[in-house]
Amino acid sequence: MSNVIGNLDVNTFLNTNDERKKIIENASAAPLTGTFPVNVVAKRLHPNRQYMKIAAVTDMGQNTKKFRLVPNPDRGTTECAYFIAGQYISVFETIKGMEVNRAYSIASAPFEALEGFYEIAIKNSGDGLVSTYVCDNWKVGDEVEVSGPIGSFAYSRLRDAETVIGVAGGSGITPFVSFARAIAHGDENFNLVLLYGSRTADEILYKDEFDKLAAECSKVKVVHVISDEEKEGFEHGFISAELIKKYAPADKPYSVFVCGPQGLYDFMDKEYEKLGIAKKFFREELYGEIHDPNTQSDYPGCDQKTVKITVSVRDRTRTIDADVNDSILQALEKAGIAAPASCRSGECGLCRSQLVSGEVYCPKKLEGRRLADFKFNGIHICATYPLSDLEIEVPPVKGIYVQ
Ligand code: FES
Repeated sequence: MSNVIGNLDVNTFLNTNDERKKIIENASAAPLTGTFPVNVVAKRLHPNRQYMKIAAVTDMGQNTKKFRLVPNPDRGTTECAYFIAGQYISVFETIKGMEVNRAYSIASAPFEALEGFYEIAIKNSGDGLVSTYVCDNWKVGDEVEVSGPIGSFAYSRLRDAETVIGVAGGSGITPFVSFARAIAHGDENFNLVLLYGSRTADEILYKDEFDKLAAECSKVKVVHVISDEEKEGFEHGFISAELIKKYAPADKPYSVFVCGPQGLYDFMDKEYEKLGIAKKFFREELYGEIHDPNTQSDYPGCDQKTVKITVSVRDRTRTIDADVNDSILQALEKAGIAAPASCRSGECGLCRSQLVSGEVYCPKKLEGRRLADFKFNGIHICATYPLSDLEIEVPPVKGIYVQ
């Protein structure tokens, strides 16, 4: 075969795998002696942990606080890793002896990371372990740890339409703040029509900023949708397929991006069917943890209340008691065993572990495993619940975590 596509010879291409295998088999097993520039860049862009300081805390009302995080050079972080508007960072905290993490969308824009800060806004709803802790305890000057930016709730010209209808509820506004700032700054180039649902006009977060951005930038438009009162200049009711169609371009494709509480995703999943848009144009941010699998229609149920989980991390093994209503990740955290995790929604793959034996349940809503995971018993422990005694192998985080 002598087809040549540009500089690519098809024979060479077909032999790539064999060639690669040969090179790997013949390579030295000695550790690398130098640092490759590509590894340095990769580490800068995708650090596992970033050590930050809290530079400002702003009470936004509605039990929500805004935090400005800046690098903490004393702990080795000298810059904010760059990101794409819409991504999130995970916050790590040790609460009651457990190392836990939660993902929060970055509200600031990528250009602001280059200026040296991230902004996140967190609502203290009273029942969120980390959100409550952060809102009650974080103060200016505190040292905190976060992950590198991660997530796929971002705009892509190759996949998404020229106009994005943003559907936000409550503190789900944050990635749209990042999108709007990035558009106004010229770093993103799409039309954002934000439908932002709140109960009352007083509960709207980032209202002044959005009004200002919309006044200054023709690519940003915001429509406030309030459910518990009627007011001139506001849409009344809930965000629905009908409302989306009212503000979407009539003659062009559009994307719909959704971010908010779990109830909003469940509702919008049904409204999506009425929109008649391609699946690729309908995007949802992380669903978050499911705290009770009994709420899921596909849950087969479990006749035990607790099970035993035997956990191996490297060469250490421990058996713990686990509540069947806790995800495996939550059960490990309660037992003081830290496991790698970020999205806690079955999406990022960071918590991927090996199921050695036992029966488990993964809610359809959080099913993010690949074919290889099904074949080789890979599970996302943040999105998996025990149905029987289990044996699992979990990757380590920063050393030994089986105590
Ligand atoms: S933490 Fe992301 S898949 Fe489990």
